[in-house]
Amino acid sequence: MDSGLIVALDLPTAEQAEELASRLDGLDLCFKIGLELYSSAGPDIVRNFTDKGRDVFVDLKLHDIPATVGRATARLAELGASLLTVHSSGGRAMMSAAVDATHKAAGDERLRVLAVTALTSLDQDDLQSIGVDMSIDELVVHRAVLAADSGCDGVVASPHEAGILRKSLPEGFLIVTPGVRPLGHDKGDQKRVMTPAKAKAAGADLIVVGRPIRDAEDARAAAMSIIEDFNA
Ligand code: C5P
Repeated sequence: MDSGLIVALDLPTAEQAEELASRLDGLDLCFKIGLELYSSAGPDIVRNFTDKGRDVFVDLKLHDIPATVGRATARLAELGASLLTVHSSGGRAMMSAAVDATHKAAGDERLRVLAVTALTSLDQDDLQSIGVDMSIDELVVHRAVLAADSGCDGVVASPHEAGILRKSLPEGFLIVTPGVRPLGHDKGDQKRVMTPAKAKAAGADLIVVGRPIRDAEDARAAAMSIIEDFNA
């Protein structure tokens, strides 16, 4: 996947996801199956997509005791997906358990584990309200370094943190950024957004875009213009 675009299939049914994915087929991108779609369509949709040669990111943000996360990751690795998220707030042992499970299950292409640093929908007040006293930047860097030390392949973070993360993380460590909006597009519930080009300049390797593509009249044109902006 060279375009750098991950399309969030935030949809309620396998049929709707298939309909959107088929409009985007042929573009060099990755499909993100998140909590809504996985809750309705389960592992079958992941297998169905990977069987068709589609690149899949399973965004389940796993967060549980290390043994449970390790076992769940082992099952997910069997589905042929490329990327999986875990919550960095689950700690070092939990993230390592996920990474170890992907190594044990390894086929040709190992499932890569991304750690969520802080949800891009949270701002400083939200952090305070859940008992986190650090600034967003400090928290994100702290958790990203822990994720790298735990063997994760990358992090999910706001494009606003990509710049400082690049300086603190090892070479080749992936920075994946949601919270990306084409110019003039509605922010939705994302509080810290950037355009694709700016996210790239800030250091993002991959961007996650949902609503601007899902809700576009012409999803394919929307995806193509985001790819063009990101790679300009
Ligand atoms: O519609 P929108 O482009 O805001 O979608 C962003 C996607 O990225 C959603 O599927 C959301 O779950 C996901 N995401 C996020 N913030 C994170 C991790 C994932 O918004 N930190």
